[in-house]
Amino acid sequence: MNQGKRVGIIGAGNVGATVAYSLAMLGSCHEIILRDNKIDVAKGKALDMSQAAAAVRSHTIVSVAEEMSELTNCDVVVVTAGSPRLPGMSRDDLLMINANITKEVIEGIAKYSPDSIIIMVSNPLDAMTYVALRESGFERSRVIGMAGILDSSRMASFIQEKLGYGAGQIRASVMGGHGDDMVPLPRYSTVAGVPITDILTAHEIDEIVMRTRNGGAEIVGHLKTGSAYYAPARSTTIMVEAILKDTKQIHPCAVFLEGEYGHSDVVSGVPVMLGANGAEKIIEVTLDDTEKEMFKNSCESVRTLIDTLNKKKFFNKGE
Ligand code: NAI
Ligand code: 2OP
Repeated sequence: MNQGKRVGIIGAGNVGATVAYSLAMLGSCHEIILRDNKIDVAKGKALDMSQAAAAVRSHTIVSVAEEMSELTNCDVVVVTAGSPRLPGMSRDDLLMINANITKEVIEGIAKYSPDSIIIMVSNPLDAMTYVALRESGFERSRVIGMAGILDSSRMASFIQEKLGYGAGQIRASVMGGHGDDMVPLPRYSTVAGVPITDILTAHEIDEIVMRTRNGGAEIVGHLKTGSAYYAPARSTTIMVEAILKDTKQIHPCAVFLEGEYGHSDVVSGVPVMLGANGAEKIIEVTLDDTEKEMFKNSCESVRTLIDTLNKKKFFNKGE
């Protein structure tokens, strides 16, 4: 039973509200608390979701925190608060805006839900996970970024589309940061246990890899006014449930590396065992030289963002 479990969701926009809806429909926790600057919008969504929960006889209650001080004693807090990239805004501008939002909400989480596990979703994901870790002062197992489950799911759907069969039997694997240089791993991607390298040509696999890297942008190109949220939200829900239910499942998640894969003081996506204590174990799979090089490049991209934050003397707390 998940009686008594509380999940806070900061940012009740497209992703945050869809995570809340998904958790409420599954009855994964006792209470979901939404927190957004747009308090009335959050209140409307909370009422709507509470009524949906009643319709399916879910015991989950959805409420709103008007202040961060009302987001108390959560077991898990999901952070999706952020600003979209607006016309004229550089990537660095967006980095600073979302880093400042993250800093503000993390301070509240550390104060009012000090024993929680934080799941970061806001972009740029790996850098925001780093900010959350540094500013919360939490141990690294309790600050985890969501991206790898999403990117792997995108790759799986593109493999299915290319093959024309295998739906529901595909396990795709993507490591590295949530950016253009993420690291899809065809060698570790299978259909009912059959490696895709045995059933697709090198050219077809290259096309899948490119499309996976561009997966978020492809959807923005269609939606025009926003980015993807169904798959991001469902991927986040998988992480919340694994933690609340202490499943010990392995999922690709963004975590702070301390020497794993030869990298330190950076956040990147790696296979992680999720349980009641968060990222309980980091799994080190064998990478070949090309994969190692791609992973290194991806870590360097994230480090460039962290360097920008350091140059602007962004961090309050020490190393
Ligand atoms: P959205 O714009 O629909 O929602 C963001 C919400 O954050 C808004 O409701 C806004 O009012 C709220 N907000 C802003 N500042 C706040 C603050 N200080 N306190 C509380 N709430 C605040 O955006 P959407 O589509 O939900 O995406 C959210 C974030 O997640 C974005 O940064 C997006 O790029 C990122 N994202 C990351 C993915 C990943 O794989 N890690 C996948 C999809 C989205
Ligand atoms: C995505 O990959 C925008 O990061 C978001 O859809």
